[in-house]
Amino acid sequence: MKSGRAACFATYLALASTLLARPDRANDLYLENCASCHGSNADGGMGGSLSDGLWKHGGSDAEMARSISQGVQDLGMPGFEQTLSPEQIRSLVVFLREKEKTAKTQASPPPQPKKGSVKSQEHSYKVETVIDGGLKTPWSLAFLPDGRCLVTERPGTLRVIDADGNLLPEPVAATPRAVELGQGGMLDVAVSPDFALDGWIYLAFSDPLEGEKMRSMLKIVRGRIRDHAWSDEEVIFQAAPNFYTPAGQHFGTRMAFDSGYLYFIVGERGGKMEVQDLTRPNGKIYRVFPDGSIPQDNPFATDKNAIPGIWSYGHRNPQGLAIDPRDHAIYATEHGPRGGDEFNLICKGANYGWPVISHGMNYDGSPLTGLTEKEGMEQPLVQWTPSIAACGLTCYTGDKFPGWKYDFFAGGLRGELHRIRVQDRKVVADEILLSGLGRIRDVRTGPDGFLYIVLNQPDRIVRLVPAE
Ligand code: HEC
Repeated sequence: MKSGRAACFATYLALASTLLARPDRANDLYLENCASCHGSNADGGMGGSLSDGLWKHGGSDAEMARSISQGVQDLGMPGFEQTLSPEQIRSLVVFLREKEKTAKTQASPPPQPKKGSVKSQEHSYKVETVIDGGLKTPWSLAFLPDGRCLVTERPGTLRVIDADGNLLPEPVAATPRAVELGQGGMLDVAVSPDFALDGWIYLAFSDPLEGEKMRSMLKIVRGRIRDHAWSDEEVIFQAAPNFYTPAGQHFGTRMAFDSGYLYFIVGERGGKMEVQDLTRPNGKIYRVFPDGSIPQDNPFATDKNAIPGIWSYGHRNPQGLAIDPRDHAIYATEHGPRGGDEFNLICKGANYGWPVISHGMNYDGSPLTGLTEKEGMEQPLVQWTPSIAACGLTCYTGDKFPGWKYDFFAGGLRGELHRIRVQDRKVVADEILLSGLGRIRDVRTGPDGFLYIVLNQPDRIVRLVPAE
């Protein structure tokens, strides 16, 4: 009995350790070829540290790749041009960026504003709790002009915070069914810019298609809330049934209004070259009129095979979308794979390159593509390697933090909040404003001028307010 139980426990331990020891082929490649000189953790040895952020032979991605492929002959590092492919060399650069960031975060962690005020480059701020408890995986936040606030919960519900700041216990009744499948569920919520006149609220969610196997796809509807119930529903975007898939990942999404148009994201749903195909809905950003009809000057509106709502393509899984009110430029943040998260300026008809070019590698550390750029494909304004798991983006338009006016705030599921300054459509600063509060799912400028952050694990809503 006792030995049986012990054997069982041993099997369990073996199983647990194989599950825990996820393959990391970049690490294997590193240990095999590099660790003898640079240490097993890339932090020393006769070749010197590759994680201290100091690069004697050049610290750009291209210069690091050159050091690896050509070696540093006179100091005793062999070139790997003959033994490793450009894709493998690229994955080693990504791997070393991860080591560099881990070392940097350990040496000087970004502000973790658990309590008290934090001094950042432009402002001192503190974190105030808005809603603590009562929410399940909140995903998106939208403010109504009457002081109420809408919150989606990924498991499939729409909640209301009243004008006094109380979370109403009952979700809005009769909202469309969203399947909580992998990363799917009730995702983004947006309010019509003419809400006071038309009352429209927009929802983006994973729409189910029943069959022998559950399939789903991103769908967008608008409706009104009457007596705390969803009504008057109209479909704004829905893909044809053959594009619904059993995949649980990468629905995208966000919605944003500007100059009489609605922009929204459909994630790549696990598709690869489909993302480059204009006849397929996934991996695209769309522009439509608020009623879902198609502007005739959309870039592919006259191409009879293309889906006419497409505004830009070649996207992986963007989950941040915001517009600069100064010049109406559109920006999106996008999840890369392992490395290569992006902050992009979204231009009419442009191709953002997935999966042909990427600054990242596969999750298991195997190479994805050796190409980080290609003619006819856009480069990100910022690429984050390692990934921040970019999610939620706002252009700050409030008055409470004058030094942040029109800066972009990008959240990440790994917990970092980045303040990005854009001048003439170029990024001139990227400050990590905070970390350690939880997974950042959404960031919004409140009508009160405070900066709102939707967090998961723990599930809550906080806001940044100025500290004296
Ligand atoms: C035989 C020893 C040896 C091996 C194996 C080796 N290196 Fe090196 N590496 C060196 C030496 C020595 C230098 C030069 C250090 C200096 O400039 O002080 C160097 C420099 C570098 C640099 C430039 C560092 C800088 O400061 O700019 C990079 C990047 C690098 N190595 C990566 C790698 C990678 C990746 C591998 C495995 C594919 C590898 N090395 C394998 C010895 C080695």
